[in-house]
Amino acid sequence: MKRTIRDFDWHGKRALVRVDFNVPFERGTTRISDDVRIREAVPTIEHLRGQGAAVVLCTHLGRPDGKRVPAMELGPVVERLSELLGAPVGYVHDAPGDEAKTAAAALAPGEVLMLDNIRFWPGEEANDPDFAASLAALADAYVNDAFGTAHRAHASTEGVAHHLPAMAGLLMEKEITFLGGVLEDPARPLAALLGGAKVSDKLKVLGRLIGHADELFVGGGMAATFLKAQGHEIGASLLEEDLIDFCAETMERAAAASTPVTLPEDVVVAERIKPGVPTSVVGVGEVPADAMILDIGPRTAADYAQRLAAVGSVVWNGPMGVFEVPPFDEGTRTVADAIASGNVVSVIGGGSTAEAVAHLGLADRMSHVSTGGGASLEFLEGKELPGVAALDDV
Ligand code: 3PG
Repeated sequence: MKRTIRDFDWHGKRALVRVDFNVPFERGTTRISDDVRIREAVPTIEHLRGQGAAVVLCTHLGRPDGKRVPAMELGPVVERLSELLGAPVGYVHDAPGDEAKTAAAALAPGEVLMLDNIRFWPGEEANDPDFAASLAALADAYVNDAFGTAHRAHASTEGVAHHLPAMAGLLMEKEITFLGGVLEDPARPLAALLGGAKVSDKLKVLGRLIGHADELFVGGGMAATFLKAQGHEIGASLLEEDLIDFCAETMERAAAASTPVTLPEDVVVAERIKPGVPTSVVGVGEVPADAMILDIGPRTAADYAQRLAAVGSVVWNGPMGVFEVPPFDEGTRTVADAIASGNVVSVIGGGSTAEAVAHLGLADRMSHVSTGGGASLEFLEGKELPGVAALDDV
């Protein structure tokens, strides 16, 4: 178990809090298109302020590669956070230097300061020990609430934890509880629902879940390579040729490990990925040569929906079709609705799965929607995340 911010006396102390405010923007604007990562960090910041701590926040935004990129400064993020807190948030264009030190030292209990995009400094991604020490010098204790970046061993996610009392924020704790829960002690039966474009993104998670989950359902673009491995023609669908054997072996391993794998029985196909293009629903043995599989079919969606609503828990990573382009969102909608309506512990991987669930307006009805993309996938693969490992044990 990791130490959390509830295990520390914050009165009159300064907290350095690593958050993941790497949020998307509407193309070409400074308007944040999804602020969930900022909203999810508010309970930690409010807890610290309520306990009498001054709060120094740091985050990355994008991949500026160790130099200042004005478009990746944090103005819009600071503004949104300030609205959510209903309090001013200071902002320094500095992180390891004197300006940051002076501003941090001047904070009164309950005040909040944001350092600049931490990836503007090359010491961050290099996990440079001097850089980590200079961050540590800003505070009395370190809090990691950046689950989305916990798979990176950077100075602000890992190195700094070796210099200060280091504990998990409330979001980090929630992520570990839910994602760890499905791996360690899930309400059974546990179903795993895997989708998304590529099998190659899911190799390790498949390895971790076979023999652990009670059943596994496959959808999304990745189903095409599985179907090919079963001897079906998949027309012009995305095929990962080098993984056909892997898919065949996975089916065999799953059967030997008593984790039945269900593949689609029907699919929605079209010649192009464009809103409103003519589509057809065909059996998996009948995909025309010039058509692509772009969603699971209605029979498959109804079957998955009925069976997923009846299990004890579901871990879901990867949409069932190209949900961004209607009508290829139908399969994802049908299974998401069933999971949200069932009496099921639902743990939703971040990234495109979280986007799909948010797009359908169902995020609030899931038990947990992860804020981590790569991080939640690596966690589900069973890897130890450096940003978690570095925190104090209790
Ligand atoms: C994410 O968006 O997945 C995290 O913020 C990590 O970002 P990175 O892949 O640039 O490290």
